[in-house]
Amino acid sequence: MNEIKEKGMDSLKKECLKFCYSHPLYEEGAHPVFGEGSLWAKIMLVGEAPGYYESLSGRPFCGAAGKVLDELLDSAGIKREKIYITNVVKIRPPNNRDPKPEEIQAFAPYLEKQIEIIKPKVICPLGRYSMRFLMEKFGLKDKIQAISKIHGKVFEVKNLFNSVKIIPLYHPAVATYNPKMKEILKKDFQILGKFK
Ligand code: URA
Repeated sequence: MNEIKEKGMDSLKKECLKFCYSHPLYEEGAHPVFGEGSLWAKIMLVGEAPGYYESLSGRPFCGAAGKVLDELLDSAGIKREKIYITNVVKIRPPNNRDPKPEEIQAFAPYLEKQIEIIKPKVICPLGRYSMRFLMEKFGLKDKIQAISKIHGKVFEVKNLFNSVKIIPLYHPAVATYNPKMKEILKKDFQILGKFK
């Protein structure tokens, strides 16, 4: 079982990187960011797309937003290595512009397969782009509202075999522009702490 997961994720990563290197967003010298963390994670966090520091290192959330994220995880008693962190779009858009719908669609199969392999109990979209994508994917399209209305809400999706909770959260970068948002984020992360 362990080996199946590891092999599955390794070959998905290879496939994804190959796709990234041929994608129009790819720039020479930049690193695609596939995602990292435990393949047995109960909690999966899904950001938008890598930023400058992420594309230097190839690791998700290692710049300013990553510092905020680490603080939020700490405040909720969640160990970063026990969860899985990735993004919808795996390459940095120029000047950190918002991802385009066709870019989200192009990278979606890789995120979908990451979810299939890990089978997390809780998936947290960070920010409105991943919120929209994931809520649509999990049949919650009619529940979509502004993130200011539904951040921290738990949406449970059940099927015959399993159940997954979708908890939309503000993107941690908001706290770098507006420090007051950190308290709101901390409160929402307390909810996550219950599922660790
Ligand atoms: N913002 C994101 O959405 N993802 C990262 O990995 C870093 C910043």
